[in-house]
Amino acid sequence: MKDILIMKQIIKKFGHGHAEITALKGIDFSIKQGEFISIIGPSGSGKSTFLTISGGLQNPTSGEIIINGTNFSTLNEKRRARLRFKELGFILQSSNLIPFLKIKEQFYLVDNVEKRTQQEAKIDALLDSLDVLALKNKYPNELSGGERQRVAIGRALYNEPSLILADEPTASLDTDHAYDVVKLLVKEAHEKEKATIMVTHDPRMVKWSDRIFRMEDGLLVEEPMPTEHEKSN
Ligand SMILES: Nc1ncnc2c1ncn2[C@@H]1O[C@H](COP(=O)(O)OP(=O)(O)OP(=O)(O)O)[C@@H](O)[C@H]1O
Ligand SMILES: [Mg+2]
Repeated sequence: MKDILIMKQIIKKFGHGHAEITALKGIDFSIKQGEFISIIGPSGSGKSTFLTISGGLQNPTSGEIIINGTNFSTLNEKRRARLRFKELGFILQSSNLIPFLKIKEQFYLVDNVEKRTQQEAKIDALLDSLDVLALKNKYPNELSGGERQRVAIGRALYNEPSLILADEPTASLDTDHAYDVVKLLVKEAHEKEKATIMVTHDPRMVKWSDRIFRMEDGLLVEEPMPTEHEKSN
């Protein structure tokens, strides 16, 4: 399987002088097609910084990012935006739905940008698998935080991105829905050969991963995989 994302010696600094902090301290990382990777680690350790940089939402101070064979670091902003739209699915800590569009219209918007007809059956199947099909004709403010988050996950998957970046996708969900969402993301990764990186605080969510890393003070350390016995609990 080919590498979807390669990061080489990524360093990210914020601030200047006495206030300078180094959030990422030289990260080497790669993920292949069809792989599901979880990243755990304490608050402030650099997980979100890592995820937004890996998707080109902010630039590293130094280092290289290669997405699907294209060196992201050397592209201009217009090409970067195109590549992001085509290749990346973001699921962010806040659900970022558009307030004045009904749930189904959030999906039509993606089709409009892509200049294709809307795929109603596919939208319904995604919403159904996320247990929010009945909410199709509602507006985001009529949904609970967890329901909004599940719609946002559906929208990120709808575009068939090759790389899915999920920052705490289960934070606003109850345990059953959280498990369902992670299992759906793992299934998408394995069956549709998408590379997925999930950041989470919740150690119960990582057991279906292919690899697990811990962010420790700006560096990624690979964790041992849970045993089959631990997985079944
Ligand atoms: N835009 C910014 N400007 C200045 N400092 C920042 C900025 N973004 C992040 N930081 C700092 O970088 C460090 C890493 O932050 P980051 O958001 O990546 O942590 P995190 O692991 O995602 O934490 P959490 O689990 O709380 O979401 C923190 O010390 C944070 O204060
Ligand atoms: Mg974070």
